[in-house]
Amino acid sequence: MNTQKKTMVVAIEAADEMATLDAKLKIPAEILAKGGTVAFPTETVYGLGANALDDLAIQKIYDAKGRPSDNPLIVHIASLEMLDTLALEVKPYVYTLIKTFWPGPITFVFKKRPEVSKKVSGGLDTVAVRMPNHLIALRLIALSGKPIAAPSANISGKPSPTTSKVVIEDLLGRVDCILDGGDSEVGLESTVLDVTGDVPIILRPGKVTREQIEACVGACEIDSAIKGSIIDTSGMARSPGMKYKHYAPKAEVYVYVGSTSDVIRFFYKESQSRVMTLHERVAIMTFEEDAEVLVKLFAHLPEIYEQVEIITMGSAKDWTSYGKKLFDSLRQVDVLGCDVVLVRGVEEIGLGGAIMNRLKKASEGKVTRI
Ligand code: TXA
Ligand code: MG
Repeated sequence: MNTQKKTMVVAIEAADEMATLDAKLKIPAEILAKGGTVAFPTETVYGLGANALDDLAIQKIYDAKGRPSDNPLIVHIASLEMLDTLALEVKPYVYTLIKTFWPGPITFVFKKRPEVSKKVSGGLDTVAVRMPNHLIALRLIALSGKPIAAPSANISGKPSPTTSKVVIEDLLGRVDCILDGGDSEVGLESTVLDVTGDVPIILRPGKVTREQIEACVGACEIDSAIKGSIIDTSGMARSPGMKYKHYAPKAEVYVYVGSTSDVIRFFYKESQSRVMTLHERVAIMTFEEDAEVLVKLFAHLPEIYEQVEIITMGSAKDWTSYGKKLFDSLRQVDVLGCDVVLVRGVEEIGLGGAIMNRLKKASEGKVTRI
């Protein structure tokens, strides 16, 4: 049971000068240093932070999120000196990756130093570390003087938070402080890369793609648990977070991949039969070009269209805004009171790998090629 906490909410403006920012972060940084919990923005998603060196503080994260404690946490740092206190060994090629991608949306999994507690590593002999590319996050960590363990700042199982609004919805009364610092740029959590061996292995796809890592250090593999269209829920996953149902709205999620004309035709027919036969309210998440066509088609069926909500995911020509809007749109489906959401999937190239990974999990593998 969670005792209701008084949560301090601190609004930070993009226009704040450095001195103003530091003044606003003074108390939140002290809260962290003293073992409290602070939700803060990063470029990927909002994180719920606590001192990574304090087991009691870490327990507060698990309690607030309702998260199983065998699921390890990413430790966020603001300087490479902090990395030395966590990682037992950093292979030479990893410095090339660090130079290229940090601060940024990639997490490296290292063999851990013995001082890193099991509470953070989830019982593994490794530790996941990230230097976020976000001024508020970097200043908060630096001012606290501690490495900060932070999972995404959502109730476990829900879509990750990309706006302060949903962090407040999920965590007000459950954490000590929430920093309100605008929307997350990337919208998808970081790439998680195992760098304990000679060849890096992607454990969770993200904004930094396999192609980019290969171009940087010559080789990159993908963990077998994230290949294929069905999620591997068996046994001990390499990245334990991958085995839980995730990112799911209350509505049923179905994902369809195919040509524009085939998917539009399918969405049009499928929503009619779901509304008429099953009496469902239907959401459609698709590109804005597809939405324009669908709106014209539904204009002929006003009584059906009344039960259909179309959520646009940006242009088909650039998947950046698809990634940025994905989690918020999944939450929106419930707000709109829909029973089901039909989602246009993408090919698994570039950012498409990360987008489809999240959609496979949100839909529990209900991905169809049409
Ligand atoms: O972008 C992000 O990574 C965000 C922001 C807040 O930085 N954080 C985030 O944390 O997504 P979380 O806890 O929701 O996801 C952490 C992922 C999980 O899949 C977990 O299993 C994996 O990282 N992970 C953490 N430590 C690991 C380790 N030692 N070995 C393998 N996987 C690990
Ligand atoms: Mg998460």
